[in-house]
Amino acid sequence: MIENMGNEQSAEQLYLELLKKAILFEIWIEHERNFPSSDNYVFNPVPEKRETGSDWPPIAHSMIGRERMNHLHQCLESVIRENVPGDFIETGVWRGGSCIFMRGFLKAHRITDRTVWVADSFEGLPLPDPNYPVDQGGVWHMYDFLRVSLETVIDNFKRYSLLDDQVSFLKGWFKDTLPKAPIQKIALARLDGDMYSSTWDSLSNLYDKISLGGYIIIDDYILPCCASAVHDFRNQFGIDDAIIKIGKEPCSAAYWRKTKERSKAVLKPHTV
Ligand SMILES: C[S@@+](CC[C@H](N)C(=O)[O-])C[C@H]1O[C@@H](n2cnc3c(N)ncnc32)[C@H](O)[C@@H]1O
Repeated sequence: MIENMGNEQSAEQLYLELLKKAILFEIWIEHERNFPSSDNYVFNPVPEKRETGSDWPPIAHSMIGRERMNHLHQCLESVIRENVPGDFIETGVWRGGSCIFMRGFLKAHRITDRTVWVADSFEGLPLPDPNYPVDQGGVWHMYDFLRVSLETVIDNFKRYSLLDDQVSFLKGWFKDTLPKAPIQKIALARLDGDMYSSTWDSLSNLYDKISLGGYIIIDDYILPCCASAVHDFRNQFGIDDAIIKIGKEPCSAAYWRKTKERSKAVLKPHTV
């Protein structure tokens, strides 16, 4: 277990632990108070919320919190321990922190044959698409807080000295970038686009590239729109791998490991 390594931690493990603390801004969390937000959002950064990823941090480079960051770390360790082939991708990166951790993980383990794919509009969430009724009435696209430019994310990678040719950016809406992304194989896909459409577009374009044994992490499983996309996709393609919740109740995220290819069905999201 990552948390229980005590004094026996290697330099690589110590680096990754420090990287998590920096990305999550845990060390300086009290300095995040009183930050102005363009959305009138009231920040209340406290360690308990950072643990579960249930706050929107004014400064931290990821909002997923410690539980989900540790879980991501455990999945990455499992991928290399079990030789699951492929790259790592996050769809919905915000300030880039989860992807920065993935790149740091590869560097710590001196792995040079895997890429971290960083997929985002870099301009926030899309307007609800009428083809996805579940998303209608949603206001995610109105949040300036969720708009982080490509330049800012690149700059964040540079701050950790983790920007290099093992990081590839896919800028644009998932429905446009993912179908033509030059990705061969994926060992771990982290889906964090909140909406039905964003989750559906990620699953439908990436699933066939995920290796057997690979991880599919659904950050927003607690959101009914996101969970609907997951269940519709799994039902439509006969995917019955166990969905496992991440963290303490009420768990906001979940994941499964792919054990078999999906059945071939007409690729169509639910429209009613
Ligand atoms: C909740 S944030 C992601 C948080 C991030 N994973 C972290 O570690 O803090 C959601 C991100 O998804 C992106 N996004 C959502 N739907 C999208 C879509 N359909 N196409 C492109 N980007 C999308 C938004 O721009 C935003 O950056």
